[in-house]
Amino acid sequence: MRLVLAVSLDGRLAPPSGGAAQLGGKGDRRVLEEALAWADAVLIGARTLRLHGSTCLIHAPDLLLRRQEKGLAPQPAVMVWSRSGRFAPELPFFQQPVMRWLLLADAQPLPGVVAGFSRVVSFVDWTQTLSCWRALGVARVTVLGGAELAGSLMAARVLDELQLTVCPMVLGGPHSWLPSTAESDARIHWVLRRQEPLLGGELLLHYERQSQERQITDVSRR
Ligand SMILES: NC(=O)c1ccc[n+]([C@@H]2O[C@H](COP(=O)([O-])OP(=O)(O)OC[C@H]3O[C@@H](n4cnc5c(N)ncnc54)[C@H](OP(=O)(O)O)[C@@H]3O)[C@@H](O)[C@H]2O)c1
Repeated sequence: MRLVLAVSLDGRLAPPSGGAAQLGGKGDRRVLEEALAWADAVLIGARTLRLHGSTCLIHAPDLLLRRQEKGLAPQPAVMVWSRSGRFAPELPFFQQPVMRWLLLADAQPLPGVVAGFSRVVSFVDWTQTLSCWRALGVARVTVLGGAELAGSLMAARVLDELQLTVCPMVLGGPHSWLPSTAESDARIHWVLRRQEPLLGGELLLHYERQSQERQITDVSRR
Protein backbone atom coordinates (compact mmCIF):
# COMPACT_ATOMS: atom_id res chain seq x y z
CA MET A 1 0.00 0.00 0.00
CA ARG A 2 1.45 3.36 -1.07
CA LEU A 3 0.59 6.64 0.65
CA VAL A 4 0.77 9.54 -1.80
CA LEU A 5 0.69 13.09 -0.47
CA ALA A 6 1.81 16.60 -1.34
CA VAL A 7 3.21 18.20 1.79
CA SER A 8 4.68 21.55 2.73
CA LEU A 9 8.29 22.00 3.89
CA ASP A 10 6.97 21.88 7.46
CA GLY A 11 5.04 18.67 6.89
CA ARG A 12 1.51 20.08 6.57
CA LEU A 13 -1.01 18.76 4.05
CA ALA A 14 -3.38 21.70 4.33
CA PRO A 15 -3.16 25.37 5.33
CA PRO A 16 -4.10 26.41 8.88
CA SER A 17 -7.69 27.10 7.79
CA GLY A 18 -8.04 23.52 6.49
CA GLY A 19 -10.49 23.05 3.64
CA ALA A 20 -9.81 21.46 0.27
CA ALA A 21 -6.04 21.78 0.01
CA GLN A 22 -4.27 21.70 -3.35
CA LEU A 23 -0.57 21.92 -2.55
CA GLY A 24 1.04 20.16 -5.52
CA GLY A 25 1.67 21.73 -8.93
CA LYS A 26 2.29 20.30 -12.43
CA GLY A 27 5.25 18.13 -11.42
CA ASP A 28 3.30 16.60 -8.59
CA ARG A 29 0.36 15.97 -10.90
CA ARG A 30 2.51 13.70 -13.09
CA VAL A 31 3.85 11.58 -10.22
CA LEU A 32 0.38 11.44 -8.68
CA GLU A 33 -1.02 10.11 -11.95
CA GLU A 34 1.84 7.58 -12.15
CA ALA A 35 0.82 6.34 -8.70
CA LEU A 36 -2.80 6.07 -9.84
CA ALA A 37 -1.74 4.20 -12.98
CA TRP A 38 0.23 1.72 -10.82
CA ALA A 39 -2.78 0.94 -8.61
CA ASP A 40 -5.56 -1.61 -8.68
CA ALA A 41 -7.49 0.62 -6.34
CA VAL A 42 -7.35 3.98 -4.63
CA LEU A 43 -8.22 4.57 -0.98
CA ILE A 44 -9.46 7.96 0.20
CA GLY A 45 -10.80 9.33 3.50
CA ALA A 46 -14.44 10.42 3.54
CA ARG A 47 -13.61 13.96 4.72
CA THR A 48 -11.14 14.49 1.88
CA LEU A 49 -13.75 13.31 -0.60
CA ARG A 50 -16.44 15.60 0.85
CA LEU A 51 -14.11 18.61 0.82
CA HIS A 52 -12.77 18.05 -2.69
CA GLY A 53 -16.00 16.67 -4.13
CA SER A 54 -14.20 14.30 -6.48
CA THR A 55 -11.24 11.94 -6.73
CA CYS A 56 -8.10 12.34 -8.86
CA LEU A 57 -8.24 10.73 -12.29
CA ILE A 58 -5.56 9.65 -14.73
CA HIS A 59 -5.55 12.01 -17.72
CA ALA A 60 -2.08 11.41 -19.23
CA PRO A 61 -2.56 9.49 -22.53
CA ASP A 62 0.63 7.42 -22.07
CA LEU A 63 -0.50 6.22 -18.63
CA LEU A 64 -4.00 5.40 -19.88
CA LEU A 65 -2.45 3.46 -22.77
CA ARG A 66 -0.16 1.55 -20.41
CA ARG A 67 -3.16 0.45 -18.33
CA GLN A 68 -5.05 -0.54 -21.45
CA GLU A 69 -2.10 -2.66 -22.64
CA LYS A 70 -2.12 -4.45 -19.29
CA GLY A 71 -5.84 -5.14 -19.60
CA LEU A 72 -6.67 -2.86 -16.68
CA ALA A 73 -9.65 -0.53 -16.37
CA PRO A 74 -8.74 3.06 -17.38
CA GLN A 75 -9.11 4.22 -13.78
CA PRO A 76 -8.46 2.27 -10.58
CA ALA A 77 -11.47 1.54 -8.36
CA VAL A 78 -11.98 4.09 -5.58
CA MET A 79 -12.57 2.91 -2.04
CA VAL A 80 -13.88 5.48 0.45
CA TRP A 81 -13.14 4.96 4.15
CA SER A 82 -16.09 6.13 6.23
CA ARG A 83 -17.86 5.62 9.50
CA SER A 84 -21.04 7.52 8.71
CA GLY A 85 -21.51 6.40 5.09
CA ARG A 86 -23.16 9.77 4.45
CA PHE A 87 -22.35 11.60 1.22
CA ALA A 88 -24.24 14.29 -0.65
CA PRO A 89 -25.52 12.64 -3.83
CA GLU A 90 -24.67 15.76 -5.84
CA LEU A 91 -20.92 15.32 -5.28
CA PRO A 92 -19.18 15.26 -8.71
CA PHE A 93 -17.52 12.04 -7.49
CA PHE A 94 -20.73 10.14 -8.21
CA GLN A 95 -20.51 11.16 -11.87
CA GLN A 96 -16.82 10.25 -12.31
CA PRO A 97 -15.95 7.27 -14.52
CA VAL A 98 -14.71 5.06 -11.67
CA MET A 99 -15.90 2.02 -9.78
CA ARG A 100 -16.93 3.19 -6.28
CA TRP A 101 -16.59 1.05 -3.18
CA LEU A 102 -17.41 2.04 0.37
CA LEU A 103 -15.28 0.78 3.23
CA LEU A 104 -17.74 1.27 6.06
CA ALA A 105 -17.00 0.92 9.78
CA ASP A 106 -19.58 -0.22 12.29
CA ALA A 107 -21.70 -1.58 9.47
CA GLN A 108 -23.83 -3.99 11.49
CA PRO A 109 -25.79 -5.42 9.86
CA LEU A 110 -23.92 -4.83 6.63
CA PRO A 111 -26.11 -2.68 4.37
CA GLY A 112 -26.73 -4.09 0.92
CA VAL A 113 -26.04 -1.07 -1.21
CA VAL A 114 -25.39 2.56 -0.32
CA ALA A 115 -26.54 4.90 -3.09
CA GLY A 116 -23.72 5.65 -5.52
CA PHE A 117 -21.46 2.76 -4.45
CA SER A 118 -21.34 -0.55 -6.30
CA ARG A 119 -19.88 -2.42 -3.32
CA VAL A 120 -19.98 -1.92 0.43
CA VAL A 121 -17.28 -3.67 2.44
CA SER A 122 -17.47 -3.79 6.21
CA PHE A 123 -14.42 -2.22 7.85
CA VAL A 124 -13.25 -3.85 11.08
CA ASP A 125 -9.50 -3.38 10.93
CA TRP A 126 -6.79 -3.05 8.31
CA THR A 127 -5.52 -6.62 8.61
CA GLN A 128 -8.94 -8.01 7.79
CA THR A 129 -9.45 -5.42 5.05
CA LEU A 130 -6.16 -6.36 3.40
CA SER A 131 -7.06 -10.04 3.28
CA CYS A 132 -10.49 -9.14 1.89
CA TRP A 133 -8.83 -7.07 -0.85
CA ARG A 134 -6.43 -9.91 -1.65
CA ALA A 135 -9.41 -12.24 -2.12
CA LEU A 136 -10.92 -9.67 -4.51
CA GLY A 137 -7.64 -9.44 -6.48
CA VAL A 138 -6.74 -5.98 -5.16
CA ALA A 139 -3.02 -5.99 -4.45
CA ARG A 140 -1.78 -2.48 -5.25
CA VAL A 141 -3.49 0.32 -3.38
CA THR A 142 -2.65 4.00 -3.64
CA VAL A 143 -3.78 5.98 -0.61
CA LEU A 144 -4.74 9.60 -1.31
CA GLY A 145 -5.12 10.75 2.33
CA GLY A 146 -6.09 12.68 4.35
CA ALA A 147 -4.33 12.72 7.65
CA GLU A 148 -6.81 10.71 9.70
CA LEU A 149 -6.66 7.89 7.20
CA ALA A 150 -2.86 8.11 6.99
CA GLY A 151 -2.64 7.98 10.79
CA SER A 152 -4.84 4.91 11.01
CA LEU A 153 -2.79 3.07 8.36
CA MET A 154 0.49 4.08 9.97
CA ALA A 155 -0.65 2.87 13.39
CA ALA A 156 -1.66 -0.46 11.86
CA ARG A 157 1.76 -0.72 10.16
CA VAL A 158 0.25 -1.58 6.80
CA LEU A 159 1.89 1.10 4.67
CA ASP A 160 4.65 -0.24 2.42
CA GLU A 161 5.57 2.94 0.59
CA LEU A 162 5.51 6.69 1.20
CA GLN A 163 5.44 8.91 -1.88
CA LEU A 164 5.74 12.49 -0.72
CA THR A 165 5.96 15.54 -2.94
CA VAL A 166 7.57 18.23 -0.85
CA CYS A 167 6.23 21.62 -1.96
CA PRO A 168 8.15 24.86 -1.45
CA MET A 169 5.84 26.46 1.08
CA VAL A 170 5.69 26.72 4.84
CA LEU A 171 2.13 26.57 6.11
CA GLY A 172 2.18 26.21 9.89
CA GLY A 173 -1.06 25.32 11.65
CA PRO A 174 -2.44 22.03 12.93
CA HIS A 175 -2.76 20.01 9.71
CA SER A 176 0.32 17.78 9.75
CA TRP A 177 0.20 14.87 7.36
CA LEU A 178 -0.07 12.59 10.37
CA PRO A 179 -2.43 13.76 13.13
CA SER A 180 -0.68 14.75 16.37
CA THR A 181 -2.42 11.82 18.09
CA ALA A 182 -1.23 9.27 15.50
CA GLU A 183 0.89 6.38 16.67
CA SER A 184 3.78 5.24 14.57
CA ASP A 185 6.48 2.63 15.03
CA ALA A 186 9.83 4.42 14.99
CA ARG A 187 11.61 1.08 14.48
CA ILE A 188 10.30 0.92 10.91
CA HIS A 189 13.09 1.97 8.61
CA TRP A 190 12.13 3.76 5.40
CA VAL A 191 14.54 3.30 2.49
CA LEU A 192 14.78 6.03 -0.16
CA ARG A 193 13.94 4.50 -3.56
CA ARG A 194 13.53 7.62 -5.69
CA GLN A 195 14.27 11.28 -5.31
CA GLU A 196 13.55 13.69 -8.10
CA PRO A 197 13.30 17.46 -8.40
CA LEU A 198 9.97 18.33 -10.01
CA LEU A 199 8.71 21.47 -11.74
CA GLY A 200 8.18 24.53 -9.59
CA GLY A 201 10.77 23.67 -6.96
CA GLU A 202 8.91 20.60 -5.75
CA LEU A 203 10.79 17.48 -4.71
CA LEU A 204 9.61 13.89 -4.99
CA LEU A 205 10.68 11.58 -2.17
CA HIS A 206 9.64 7.95 -2.53
CA TYR A 207 10.42 5.68 0.39
CA GLU A 208 9.84 1.97 0.82
CA ARG A 209 9.52 0.19 4.12
CA GLN A 210 12.45 -2.06 4.91
CA SER A 211 11.39 -5.51 6.00
CA GLN A 212 13.84 -5.55 8.87
CA GLU A 213 13.19 -3.13 11.69
CA ARG A 214 16.08 -1.11 12.95
CA GLN A 215 17.18 -0.94 16.54
CA ILE A 216 16.45 2.37 18.20
CA THR A 217 19.33 3.51 20.35
CA ASP A 218 18.25 4.87 23.69
CA VAL A 219 20.73 7.74 24.08
CA SER A 220 19.86 8.17 27.75
CA ARG A 221 21.51 4.76 28.42
CA ARG A 222 24.78 5.58 26.76
N1 LIG B 1 -1.92 17.54 0.50
C1 LIG B 1 -2.42 16.38 0.17
O1 LIG B 1 -1.82 15.60 -0.58
C2 LIG B 1 -3.76 15.98 0.72
C3 LIG B 1 -4.31 14.73 0.38
C4 LIG B 1 -5.53 14.37 0.92
C5 LIG B 1 -6.20 15.24 1.78
N2 LIG B 1 -5.64 16.43 2.07
C6 LIG B 1 -6.31 17.35 3.02
O2 LIG B 1 -6.56 16.64 4.23
C7 LIG B 1 -7.72 17.18 4.86
C8 LIG B 1 -8.70 16.06 5.16
O3 LIG B 1 -8.07 15.07 5.94
P1 LIG B 1 -8.70 14.56 7.32
O4 LIG B 1 -7.62 13.94 8.13
O5 LIG B 1 -9.49 15.66 7.93
O6 LIG B 1 -9.78 13.48 6.87
P2 LIG B 1 -9.66 12.10 6.06
O7 LIG B 1 -8.52 11.28 6.57
O8 LIG B 1 -9.71 12.39 4.60
O9 LIG B 1 -11.06 11.41 6.40
C9 LIG B 1 -11.49 11.26 7.73
C10 LIG B 1 -12.78 10.43 7.69
O10 LIG B 1 -12.47 9.04 7.79
C11 LIG B 1 -13.58 8.36 8.35
N3 LIG B 1 -13.10 7.53 9.47
C12 LIG B 1 -12.47 7.92 10.59
N4 LIG B 1 -12.23 6.87 11.40
C13 LIG B 1 -12.74 5.79 10.78
C14 LIG B 1 -12.83 4.42 11.09
N5 LIG B 1 -12.33 3.93 12.24
N6 LIG B 1 -13.40 3.60 10.21
C15 LIG B 1 -13.91 4.07 9.05
N7 LIG B 1 -13.87 5.37 8.69
C16 LIG B 1 -13.29 6.21 9.54
C17 LIG B 1 -14.57 9.41 8.84
O11 LIG B 1 -15.57 9.46 7.83
P3 LIG B 1 -17.13 9.80 8.15
O12 LIG B 1 -17.14 11.26 8.45
O13 LIG B 1 -17.84 9.44 6.90
O14 LIG B 1 -17.55 8.95 9.30
C18 LIG B 1 -13.72 10.68 8.86
O15 LIG B 1 -14.49 11.83 8.66
C19 LIG B 1 -8.28 18.19 3.88
O16 LIG B 1 -7.83 19.49 4.24
C20 LIG B 1 -7.69 17.78 2.55
O17 LIG B 1 -7.62 18.83 1.61
C21 LIG B 1 -4.45 16.84 1.55
